[in-house]
Amino acid sequence: MTTEMLKRDVLAALTRVTAQEGGDVVSHGRVRDLTVEEDGTVRFSFFLSPDDPPSMVRDLRAAVETVPGVKGVKVNVQLPRAPQGGGGGARGRPLQPGSVPAPTPRPGLLPEVDRVVAVSSGKGGVGKSMVAANLATALAARGRRVGLLDADIYGPNIPLMFGENRRPGVAEGEGPERIAPLVAHGVRLMSLGFLLDKDQPAIMRGPLIAGILKQFLEQVAWGALDYLVVDMPPGTGDAQLSLVQTIDVDGVVMVTTPQDVATGDVRRGVRMFQRVHTPVLGIVENMSGFTCPHCGGEVEVFGKGGGEALARDLEVPFLGSVPLDPGVREAGDAGVPTVLRAPDSPAGKALMALAAKIEELLAEGGEG
Ligand SMILES: Nc1ncnc2c1ncn2[C@@H]1O[C@H](COP(=O)(O)OP(=O)(O)OP(=O)(O)O)[C@@H](O)[C@H]1O
Ligand SMILES: [Mg+2]
Repeated sequence: MTTEMLKRDVLAALTRVTAQEGGDVVSHGRVRDLTVEEDGTVRFSFFLSPDDPPSMVRDLRAAVETVPGVKGVKVNVQLPRAPQGGGGGARGRPLQPGSVPAPTPRPGLLPEVDRVVAVSSGKGGVGKSMVAANLATALAARGRRVGLLDADIYGPNIPLMFGENRRPGVAEGEGPERIAPLVAHGVRLMSLGFLLDKDQPAIMRGPLIAGILKQFLEQVAWGALDYLVVDMPPGTGDAQLSLVQTIDVDGVVMVTTPQDVATGDVRRGVRMFQRVHTPVLGIVENMSGFTCPHCGGEVEVFGKGGGEALARDLEVPFLGSVPLDPGVREAGDAGVPTVLRAPDSPAGKALMALAAKIEELLAEGGEG
């Protein structure tokens, strides 16, 4: 079968998905840029509407997956545009839901960025990238202009979590050439991983990274952003410290798992950021409790509640807990963050609530 024929079948399958406003999603022009690759991978952009059922993207995928010859589906979900205008505009003022204030210039490296939030952890593998990806996507879904910087050169995985494997191109416009971020799920993405080839070993260490990062960031055409979320490399050593100082981070979200609470890494990290006057917005407990898919009962695989106790002890806010959920990993692998793929699941709700909480905290922080 030629890709042209496959494309026709895919389009026919998509035409069977009905839109909330009546009729099908294709005739409403909500499916765009449909391409079919030689290997059977189908890609298209889908323009989500606020009235769509939470299962919309899943339904689209399911429809395409049933077409014989389709080997993979990549949906680039486009979120509804936030209403323009309104809002106070001063850095640190509370953001009104749905309004997009014009950021006031931020001195230094990122003049067009209003607020920078770093997601960090004491050790690796606790779900930092997962939290960063969902936080960024949730903020975009709340109508904010959001960028996500993957600052982990050792294991960059943000592009994959957004279903992106393209390399960024050159931004259009006057002046010196700049790099255009990729856009997926309403979030502008940039990864230090784009600096490296897949097989090239990441030999850069410590302070060197901060220097390269600075140079790199100056060349990214972010455009005006309400939030830049930074996915930090694991650990809380000198490299991380120089990163948050170079980027001039407004607040750090610390991610921990219940079994890591006791190790002291999070505690050291929080203290370290506070010492250099980088506010710690709070602690998120990830992989906290597990709802048994068979009996529906809650299983505390790694225990639960330690993050909250630690936050109390360190006198930083507790930002909530995200349950261990196989769907969270699947969402990451599928390139669609949980807040879009399963917004009504307990994990999806917890991650949406986290975004609301972060907005609240940054608004308050700026007032003081
Ligand atoms: N709540 C969760 N439930 C199930 N799986 C999860 C959850 N959170 C994260 N994961 C999975 O755990 C793995 C590690 O998560 P992630 O890559 O976000 O961690 P990380 O802290 O960024 O790791 P690294 O330090 O390597 O950058 C991923 O496969 C992710 O999908
Ligand atoms: Mg990571």
